[in-house]
Amino acid sequence: MALQTTLAFDVYGTLIDTHGVLTALETLVGDKAKAFSTTWRDKQLEYSFRKGLMQNYETFAVCTSQALDYTCTFYTVDLSDEQKKELMGIYRVLPPFADVKEGLSNLKASGFRLFAFSNGAADALEVLLTNAGIRDMFLGVVSVDEVKSFKPNPGVYSHFLRQSEATGGDAWLVSSNPFDVIGSISAGMKSAWVQRSADAIFDPWGIEPTITVSSLTELDQKITQN
Ligand code: 2OP
Repeated sequence: MALQTTLAFDVYGTLIDTHGVLTALETLVGDKAKAFSTTWRDKQLEYSFRKGLMQNYETFAVCTSQALDYTCTFYTVDLSDEQKKELMGIYRVLPPFADVKEGLSNLKASGFRLFAFSNGAADALEVLLTNAGIRDMFLGVVSVDEVKSFKPNPGVYSHFLRQSEATGGDAWLVSSNPFDVIGSISAGMKSAWVQRSADAIFDPWGIEPTITVSSLTELDQKITQN
């Protein structure tokens, strides 16, 4: 059964740690680094949602850059263009979470069809996944950029299913982002929520993840049981 099961891995926040900018931020903004990183990420996602709703698409990298400008203003931090460029450069080569390589290797060895599926544009994803040493794990990389919208527009999940030649009943979205899990289930897929921290909260919308795991290494067994 595993041979026919397709897994779509969300990238930013699920495979790749968006707070991997913390060390650089500590140098640039001192003790505001953690709050700065969180606001930057939250605004990046908010901008993607809003641009999607407005049907006024710009790439995820534009959302990230505009969110960085907003966050500097919000925390009254005066970064030079050079420093912002440095942070955007780090964003292109963020690190994977510790469980990712082992988790993906196990799933690949078990015969699952693995894809990366992200808000990021294809070129940014190739750089990011190659740098993280996990590009070879995937049969393909599917980007929302191909349909000029963002998660959780149901059209981007349909696009993933077409591109991966899968159907909702045999395809899982694996994500740490609750909005992504809810979006994929609403679009007819199954979904695993990766809750790496006990503090992470799932949105109380009455749409529950098919399964919840604390690490990618738990997926193999739990997906097979569902
Ligand atoms: C991604 O699509 C939602 O940031 C997340 O990679």
